[in-house]
Amino acid sequence: MDYTDKINPYNVPTRKLYTGAHVPAVGLGTFGSDKYGPDVIAEAVLGAAEAGFRHFDCAACYGNQKEVGASLAKAMRDVPREEFFITSKLWNDMHGYMNAMRSCEQTLEELGLEYLDLYLIHWPFPNFHPPGCPEDYHNPDARPYIHEEFMDTWRALEELVHMGKLKHIGTSNMSLVKLEMLLRDSDVRPAANEMELHPTFQQKMLFDFCQNEEILPIGYCPLGSPSRPARDRTPEDASDMEHPVVTAIARERGIHPAEVCIRWQATRGSVPIPFSVKPTQYLANIKAVMADPLTDEEMKRLETCECGNRLIKGQVFLWREGQNWRDLWDENGMIAT
Ligand SMILES: NC(=O)c1ccc[n+]([C@@H]2O[C@H](COP(=O)([O-])OP(=O)(O)OC[C@H]3O[C@@H](n4cnc5c(N)ncnc54)[C@H](OP(=O)(O)O)[C@@H]3O)[C@@H](O)[C@H]2O)c1
Repeated sequence: MDYTDKINPYNVPTRKLYTGAHVPAVGLGTFGSDKYGPDVIAEAVLGAAEAGFRHFDCAACYGNQKEVGASLAKAMRDVPREEFFITSKLWNDMHGYMNAMRSCEQTLEELGLEYLDLYLIHWPFPNFHPPGCPEDYHNPDARPYIHEEFMDTWRALEELVHMGKLKHIGTSNMSLVKLEMLLRDSDVRPAANEMELHPTFQQKMLFDFCQNEEILPIGYCPLGSPSRPARDRTPEDASDMEHPVVTAIARERGIHPAEVCIRWQATRGSVPIPFSVKPTQYLANIKAVMADPLTDEEMKRLETCECGNRLIKGQVFLWREGQNWRDLWDENGMIAT
């Protein structure tokens, strides 16, 4: 990489959590989509940190935390730990109080950290799939969402906050109704909700709910995840970076469609976590959140891209024969049993 391209991390805008802590307004995703291995991603983490990234989105199930941790350790030789914002996630096979305590410890060890800035429950279901599984994989032990069980896991996260191992805790892949129940029953509030967000999938109701409740929306698949695994592809999926409104705005501004997608989130108030192992791409992605916001007129045009284009449907987590992936998302406001 040409390091003259480096940006000053202090110039990267931040978002505030309800605790007053600041999160850099863009993070580097670290899920290799079954396409990029741990060493390639670790190299990208180090390169991105050297280029000015301070926010990294990790997870136990990405299978690369040890390698990512080694890169973070190198980066932290020059930059104090407090300047980074590191997220990780509890995988579905480790729900439950004791499992969550153990899994968090293991993640801290793998990443070589004393604490995490944010720890998320990756999915509200305890149903897991093995890495790299095919799209029709079915886990025979899969179960529906059971609120009491979810809260048992949440209690472990709350305890880890009290122990100083986690600065913030949060959720991912939640529905509005599940979040309402969590807000009702939690002692430590969720600080963030990681959710799929891109111009063709805007999740307006859930997004507004999170913002009103001071839960920061963190947007995954911000570019429409062009390299996602085969199990997350269906013929009807739309491509954000090829959407005519996105490409028109890109043309008018003389920028790449990826930048339009990232600036759409930055203008809207969520934190995108684009993945890339390519220096030119991740540099462009961090520079995109430093640019001026899109105009109201552009944001209105981008609103029209919404077409319910959920890419990460989660069908591998279904628990009953004959179910549809829509059952995972409580679209009618009811939790499927
Ligand atoms: N919480 C969850 O359940 C969940 C689910 C999914 C993802 N995530 C997180 O979100 C992160 C991002 O999601 P994602 O990787 O699925 O999707 P994404 O960020 O929308 O797409 C990443 C892909 O876009 C391409 N790209 C990146 N920057 C670009 C640029 N500037 N110009 C053109 N193309 C560019 C790259 O493709 P090429 O590599 O082919 O160049 C890259 O692999 C993940 O890494 C993970 O950390 C979380």
